[in-house]
Amino acid sequence: MDILQIIDKKKNGNALTKQEIQFFVDGVCSGAIKDYQTTSLLMAICTKGMNFDETFNLTISMANSGKTLDLSNVGDCIDKHSTGGVSDTTTLVVVPVLASLGVKVAKMSGRSLGFTGGTADKMEVFKGYNTEISTEEFVNLIKQNNASIISQSADFALADKIIYKLRSDSGTVENLSLIASSIMSKKIACGAKVIVLDCKYGSGAFMKTKKDSIKLAKLMVEIGKKAGIKVCAVISSMEQPLSNYVGNNFEVYSGLQVLNGQKNDLYKLSCHLCSLALVKSGKSQNQTEAQKLVEQVISNGLAIEKLKQIVKSQGGSTEVIDNPKMLLKTTNQIDIIADKTGYISAINTAGIGTISHDLQKINGEVVRQDNTGIILSVKLGSYVQKGDKLATMYYNNLDNLRELNTELQNCFTIGKKTKKSKLIDCVIE
Ligand code: URA
Repeated sequence: MDILQIIDKKKNGNALTKQEIQFFVDGVCSGAIKDYQTTSLLMAICTKGMNFDETFNLTISMANSGKTLDLSNVGDCIDKHSTGGVSDTTTLVVVPVLASLGVKVAKMSGRSLGFTGGTADKMEVFKGYNTEISTEEFVNLIKQNNASIISQSADFALADKIIYKLRSDSGTVENLSLIASSIMSKKIACGAKVIVLDCKYGSGAFMKTKKDSIKLAKLMVEIGKKAGIKVCAVISSMEQPLSNYVGNNFEVYSGLQVLNGQKNDLYKLSCHLCSLALVKSGKSQNQTEAQKLVEQVISNGLAIEKLKQIVKSQGGSTEVIDNPKMLLKTTNQIDIIADKTGYISAINTAGIGTISHDLQKINGEVVRQDNTGIILSVKLGSYVQKGDKLATMYYNNLDNLRELNTELQNCFTIGKKTKKSKLIDCVIE
């Protein structure tokens, strides 16, 4: 087989065979296929597309291109995956809730990527928490505590790691087949038997429209089913940050608030994801029964106790779980003020994520600072008067404070009409 023929075939709009896709993935991992050849094929895929069989074959080849995890001796494990958003702290809630209900959760999480946050970074807010434990320890902790949260190891789906970087550097990220195979290859390699996907759409998501988010969800659900996994996808809005808190410490604070019973959008979405997981895994007969169980373990404190156990077992301090207000300790702050009266009609959510990211920059480089971020005072549809506070920006040292201040102000559109936003749109099964 020859990579140039494969590129030519795709360039002419023809479907690749399973063997050709396997040859491509093998060549990417061994280095036999050069980066410029890979990007050339990726660009051809972006322009000509892939059918379902090609997308499935690419997913499976990538899933098998690195380490795979066999969780069969642990029992059926659940995994939950969000396509990425701003102030999305559902994992911090979903994992302890499910684990406290006796469901096993194997959660490998990503780091912050562009404007989106990463759960692995947030777990490290618990001082000493080790996200880099071995897979053996990961499996043992799932047996012991029903759950473990670690950072996604690069050893899994090796081809995706190489291809993802090239996609990111060559303008070939935005293709449904490439996105779906990238996400599902990592999920399949991690061995879960039930996967609940949270597919975001809106200004703070990779998929800007609901239509595209549904298309991606349908594709991932079909891939999962064909791979023998029980999978469903929630379509949820990222037209505004999920909670009012953006930034590592602040987001952990908002997750703890929910585990302490505060009912807001983060609570609603987390409960929905948990109840779907309970039904899919056969632990509940229906959504209503599942929702009750979820609400129970939050209100009786079992879920937050489970979080403490998970954190302690991985070397983390539980001090901030006992005293969440510690997470709000900051140095400098500046309020962002409404320059006119009206309704919040749009929020540039990706913009808010980017500014939160930029608040950590020192001399142009991001130097992790967990106590920086943004706390919003408004949601979509809020009525504000000129002079009201829209948000507060928290920072340590900044040379470009004025710029970020203006940028943050511009993230809020104030219009004449109120704006309704539906958090959860539908479920794809
Ligand atoms: N997340 C992934 O893991 N891959 C993509 O392609 C997009 C988001």
